[in-house]
Amino acid sequence: MSSNGKKIFISGHNGLVGRALMKLYSGKPEWQIITRTKAELDLRDPQATDAFFATERPEYVILAAATVGGIKASYTHPVDFLLNNLQIQNAVLSASHRFDVKKLLFLGSTCIYPKVVEMPIREDSLMTGPMEETNAPYGVAKIAGIKLCQGYRHQHGKDFICGMPANLYGPFDNFDPEHSHVLPSLIRRFHEAKLVNAPWVTLWGSGKPTREFLFVDDLAEACSFLLDHYSGADIVNIGTGAEISIRDAAEAIRGIIGYTGEIRWDTTQPDGNPRRLLDVSRLTNLGWKAGTQFREGVEKTYRWFLENRATARV
Ligand SMILES: NC(=O)c1ccc[n+]([C@@H]2O[C@H](COP(=O)([O-])OP(=O)(O)OC[C@H]3O[C@@H](n4cnc5c(N)ncnc54)[C@H](OP(=O)(O)O)[C@@H]3O)[C@@H](O)[C@H]2O)c1
Repeated sequence: MSSNGKKIFISGHNGLVGRALMKLYSGKPEWQIITRTKAELDLRDPQATDAFFATERPEYVILAAATVGGIKASYTHPVDFLLNNLQIQNAVLSASHRFDVKKLLFLGSTCIYPKVVEMPIREDSLMTGPMEETNAPYGVAKIAGIKLCQGYRHQHGKDFICGMPANLYGPFDNFDPEHSHVLPSLIRRFHEAKLVNAPWVTLWGSGKPTREFLFVDDLAEACSFLLDHYSGADIVNIGTGAEISIRDAAEAIRGIIGYTGEIRWDTTQPDGNPRRLLDVSRLTNLGWKAGTQFREGVEKTYRWFLENRATARV
């Protein structure tokens, strides 16, 4: 890492997104990376955050620190998801304003969009209808972050931009069943079923809903692309633009893991949204496209999971 490049604060550098950003930016000698763990700097604390910005004076910021988790975690811990995220983004955005950060990238989520919405989801469908209730605390915090970025641009001329990633997966994901998203939880379920030779694995729902999954290294590249090439108030969806059914995803993961038992679908359990797919034409028109195929991404993730079982979040 260079000691006299452009200073970039990668917040949340030990998380799923942060690790991919670290890998990418570590290979770019023109950047000088600054990091803090949550234990070193709790970004919910505005005084501590100000003191850090005053000392380090980052020129660029990627806000990848957040309270993140699956539906179960956000449903059972609404205060954590709403308050932590509001506090983190308020502290980081206001410090970035007052300490003259040149550019900031705020990461939101597809949870910001209405529950019932035309597919693929365009950026201008934001706030055109009610959001999924279980994700609302997280989604409301993210919408507040978007409005704050847009407000700083409008009122103070700040170059704060917002990217909305699709469902992510990859190395350093959270495989803990209480907190994980669908892909890491499938990886873990099939891996454990293979170890004990379980005759079948039961998955929730019909498997028919489709989802969009973005490999986290692709997201890191998109973040770098947007920081280098985009300055605007409009939010930008970041995804593959391709969808896969949960059933096909489960079958692909089962094959990669080498689990030979049966998949049983518990159709008494809810399916959730039938489709969730981002319209990525804004990003494509800017000149960026995701490069990793689903199979390749899952293979890399599973390889990482096998090699890092001892330290992974499981
Ligand atoms: N995962 C997805 O599928 C997904 C999809 C769309 C958007 N996103 C967005 O991408 C961003 C990163 O998500 P992720 O999946 O990388 O999450 P993650 O793996 O849970 O990582 C979050 C990171 O934030 C840090 N953090 C949390 N609270 C903090 C605090 N109070 N002060 C300082 N640091 C704190 C954690 O630091 P420690 O490790 O030190 O505790 C952790 O490294 C989030 O904004 C999220 O909304 C994620």
